Amino acid sequence: MKALIVTHGGVGAPTDMTEGPERAAEEGAKLLSQGKGALEAAIAAAVVLEDDPRTNAGTGSRICIDGKTVEMDAALMTSDGRMGAVAAIRDVKNPILVARGVMDTPHVTLAGEGATAFARFLGFPPYDPTTPAAREFLKKGFERVRAGTVLPHNRAWLDFAKRYPVLPPEGGCDTIGAVARDATGAFAAANSTGGGAMKMVGRVGDSPHFGAGLWAGPAGAVATTGIGEHIIRKLVAKETYDRLAAGATAQEAAEFGVTLLPKEIPLGIVVAARDGHGAATNGTLPIGVRIVE
Ligand code: GLY
Repeated sequence: MKALIVTHGGVGAPTDMTEGPERAAEEGAKLLSQGKGALEAAIAAAVVLEDDPRTNAGTGSRICIDGKTVEMDAALMTSDGRMGAVAAIRDVKNPILVARGVMDTPHVTLAGEGATAFARFLGFPPYDPTTPAAREFLKKGFERVRAGTVLPHNRAWLDFAKRYPVLPPEGGCDTIGAVARDATGAFAAANSTGGGAMKMVGRVGDSPHFGAGLWAGPAGAVATTGIGEHIIRKLVAKETYDRLAAGATAQEAAEFGVTLLPKEIPLGIVVAARDGHGAATNGTLPIGVRIVE
């Protein structure tokens, strides 16, 4: 079976940043061509995207509603049922590598201070993922709030935030992700995100929610990107996976998954399956694909 990898840079990200997901897919494909597994390939691709300051994951993650805190979520799942996730982790460069560490513990998810402490235990040093672009994004968000041009899907957060002591910025909810199939036919999915730019401190999105942000099993691997609160409610990744398991192609399953949310709510899905790969979105979704010959 040919190995393959599909990566994405987040729904809503401009397609002129496809070079990032392409580079990430290349990195994953390099490992697959050396006979490495789907999990290693998905992690390597996710690290490239976390290190790309243009993405809302790792370096460049969005800033929380308090105007200073960055909290990130990341998760991994394999087709043989291994899982690892971190939620609301702070001060690390690569949350996906900490999620990989969680896989080797008796637990599935570590959150908040415990996740950050675990990262230190693994030897990952303190790292500030804030970038000038993320600060600028925040500033523009405040301006949009003042101008009253807040996107409808952020209205509920904004309304709540009026009771919260800090004025919230505007922003998206994009995530980076990778799905891979190796030469043995095993699958893996990886997700990483800085979460929503208007999020409250402590908010956790779909990315580390198994069944919502990602799922993997014998039929394939699925990763989603979009607004966590909506994706969680519809269990988008598991519903998409179930289509695959029922016999849909990777592309059919991805296209079905996107219909689970109203089209005005941005959503993107990438799939690796037995028949190949699929990707679908109701917005823009820069992706990278490599099939290892
Ligand atoms: N999909 C990213 C988030 O909602 O946090």
